[in-house]
Amino acid sequence: MIARTAGILCAALVFLCASDLQAQDADKTELLALKGKCVTCHKDQTPGIYQQWRGGMHAAHDVSCYDCHRAGKEDPDAFMHEGLLIATLVTPKDCGECHKKEAEEFQKSHHAKAGQILGSSDNYLAGAVAGHPAVVTGCESCHGGTVRIDPAAPNKLDKGSYPNSGIGRINPDGTWGSCNACHIRHIFTKEQARRPEHCGKCHLGPDHPQKEIYEESKHGISFHANSAKLKLDKDSWIVGIDYSLSPTCATCHLSATPKQGVTHDAGLRISWTLRPAVSKGQMDAKTKRDNMQDVCRNCHGPRHVEGFYRSFDGLVNLYNDKFGKPSAAIMKILQKNGSLKDPDGKAAKASFGSKVEWAYYELWHHEGRRARHGASMMGPDYAWWHGMYEVAQHFYFKFIPEVRELGDAEANAYIDKLLQEPFHKWLSEDKASTAEKLRSGKMAEMYSGLYDPPWISAPYEEPAK
Ligand code: HEC
Ligand code: HEC
Ligand code: HEC
Ligand code: HEC
Ligand code: HEC
Ligand code: HEC
Ligand code: HEC
Ligand code: HEC
Repeated sequence: MIARTAGILCAALVFLCASDLQAQDADKTELLALKGKCVTCHKDQTPGIYQQWRGGMHAAHDVSCYDCHRAGKEDPDAFMHEGLLIATLVTPKDCGECHKKEAEEFQKSHHAKAGQILGSSDNYLAGAVAGHPAVVTGCESCHGGTVRIDPAAPNKLDKGSYPNSGIGRINPDGTWGSCNACHIRHIFTKEQARRPEHCGKCHLGPDHPQKEIYEESKHGISFHANSAKLKLDKDSWIVGIDYSLSPTCATCHLSATPKQGVTHDAGLRISWTLRPAVSKGQMDAKTKRDNMQDVCRNCHGPRHVEGFYRSFDGLVNLYNDKFGKPSAAIMKILQKNGSLKDPDGKAAKASFGSKVEWAYYELWHHEGRRARHGASMMGPDYAWWHGMYEVAQHFYFKFIPEVRELGDAEANAYIDKLLQEPFHKWLSEDKASTAEKLRSGKMAEMYSGLYDPPWISAPYEEPAK
């Protein structure tokens, strides 16, 4: 636009502008030549990168090396390279020059903020209890770390902080994230990002086994049975129109439906927070749930979908009310009274310096999450054997006995009272009467309050300002 206006003005004032235009043309020719050299030289120097780029949509649309690697003088990581100022990093800001919508949605998401983990108990564990290399090769490879400039080689990236393509990487230009966390360079297709393996780099393991859960769900099974028929490489990929045999992670969380466009904010369809010690509802939970149910309804009837959500809510409320809230309350008492003890039996000074803290941490962060995640994505083995089975076993036969050992009177009184409540009473009742309650359906009835509204027991509260 600016160039066009200048052109019109120049046409009117031919004499004044002629020399400027020639200079511009000369710059343009020189720039084109230099840009062309990136490709010709790297074709030999890094043939793999050249081939990847050549096979993708960017080369097909004349988007070449310099269009992405171009840098401004103000960029802390800019350096002169074969006549042009470039940077190795290509951040969401750079991609956003051409993909504004995607970059803006992504910046608003939890994914972009995933590098802000310094204050977490997980970070304390990796940095202090394990040690720094574990943070770099572990946490930061998924969450993203801060990419620094090498103090010994101005404008080059510090080898201790790069390579890194964590999803919430903190870039020298102030932006968060890396688009190639999901779009493998240098081919950058939509197809690969639609495949579940992609999300599985990060969404797996003992504390968030979404990939394993998906694999064991009917959805994952159906994906493997039918992936060749899912038209994953099609430009348009709308569930129910372009494909219907099975959903992938992207289908449910990011991709289009006949009513919703593609989003780059994976939080827009999530109504619960399944990560914390006690689950809560998300902000605007109802809208977010409607968004997800819209996805399901392309392949399932409304009663099927409602039935699924009823069982899912039931399990989250069960975890919360029976195990999550009481164990959190017990930890609070122990901390308030200074009752935590280190392995020598002295008052524990450090966080994670006592056995009980480890039992508690695994209860919510590992098995407690696995149970909720299993229920949220149709993975029965995770909802039960890797989930609630271990929650129950560890709560009654690890966490509580370890708390008892500390001899805190207030915590013991809390536990005594808790174990007399209906959910926990089975422990002190004889097995015949429990068996009878199971047979007659009375046991199930006791839990029925967990299924019905309010479906989110603790709605989201705005943090106090
Ligand atoms: C004459 C050959 C040549 C030309 C022309 C050339 N490069 Fe390179 N480039 C190299 C070589 C060799 C390396 C590896 C050594 C180095 O880092 O200097 C490299 C490294 C790079 C790196 C990685 C730097 C790092 O931090 O590891 C990027 C990105 C890059 N080039 C992009 C470009 C772009 C964009 C252009 C066009 C403006 C370009 N190259 C032009 C040869 C070339
Ligand atoms: C669509 C944008 C885009 C285009 C086009 C592009 N790159 Fe890249 N390039 C990236 C991204 C993204 C990275 C990863 C850097 C990061 O982590 O931010 C990267 C990294 C690199 C690296 C360093 C990483 C490594 O594996 O060594 C080199 C070298 C490089 N590009 C060269 C090139 C060359 C040569 C071309 C042209 C043939 C090219 N790039 C075209 C986006 C692009
Ligand atoms: C394999 C990849 C991976 C590794 C390694 C990893 N995380 Fe995570 N982390 C994730 C994913 C994925 C989530 C989101 C899980 C979910 O939503 O269920 C997450 C969630 C979190 C959360 C909760 C964020 C929130 O908003 O509630 C924190 C805090 C966290 N991780 C910190 C760490 C720290 C610190 C480390 C290293 C000790 C680490 N993580 C290692 C992938 C990883
Ligand atoms: C969490 C994984 C993920 C991340 C991170 C991600 N994308 Fe995507 N992106 C996808 C998926 C999945 C699709 C394909 C959606 C569909 O069409 O089904 C996609 C599609 C796209 C498309 C094609 C859009 C269209 O309508 O055809 C562009 C462009 C794009 N992404 C750019 C970006 C940019 C820029 C970033 C960084 C700001 C980024 N992506 C980060 C997963 C991701
Ligand atoms: C100079 C402009 C420009 C830049 C910078 C750029 N792209 Fe693109 N991108 C395009 C064009 C043009 C297309 C092809 C037309 C379309 O799909 O919009 C495209 C297509 C895509 C697609 C869809 C590919 C497919 O399979 O259909 C993805 C994904 C994508 N870009 C990601 C990125 C990412 C990630 C970055 C940064 C690392 C980036 N782009 C940087 C211009 C750009
Ligand atoms: C490079 C690692 C990585 C990849 C790849 C990745 N994620 Fe994530 N994801 C994370 C981390 C880390 C979090 C937790 C962020 C936080 O809350 O701090 C997360 C959070 C989420 C959330 C919760 C969002 C919210 O707002 O609560 C969803 C849903 C999600 N990811 C889906 C996906 C899907 C679908 C894909 C693949 C298309 C994917 N992710 C790829 C690391 C990743
Ligand atoms: C059939 C649809 C579907 C598929 C396929 C699917 N998910 Fe989900 N996912 C859900 C639902 C439903 C929830 C819970 C939504 C809510 O809280 O309301 C969820 C929740 C999540 C969360 C949030 C967990 C938290 O801690 O709050 C993450 C992360 C996630 N999924 C990642 C993935 C990944 C990665 C894959 C693929 C390996 C995947 N999902 C496949 C439907 C799906
Ligand atoms: C692209 C189509 C598609 C989408 C979208 C989809 N599903 Fe499915 N779903 C299937 C298929 C196919 C099966 C396997 C049916 C069978 O077992 O015969 C299935 C199975 C299920 C099952 C197991 C049913 C049973 O009989 O055991 C549940 C529960 C389920 N889906 C819930 C959901 C929910 C909830 C959503 C949305 C969050 C969803 N699905 C989204 C295709 C889909």
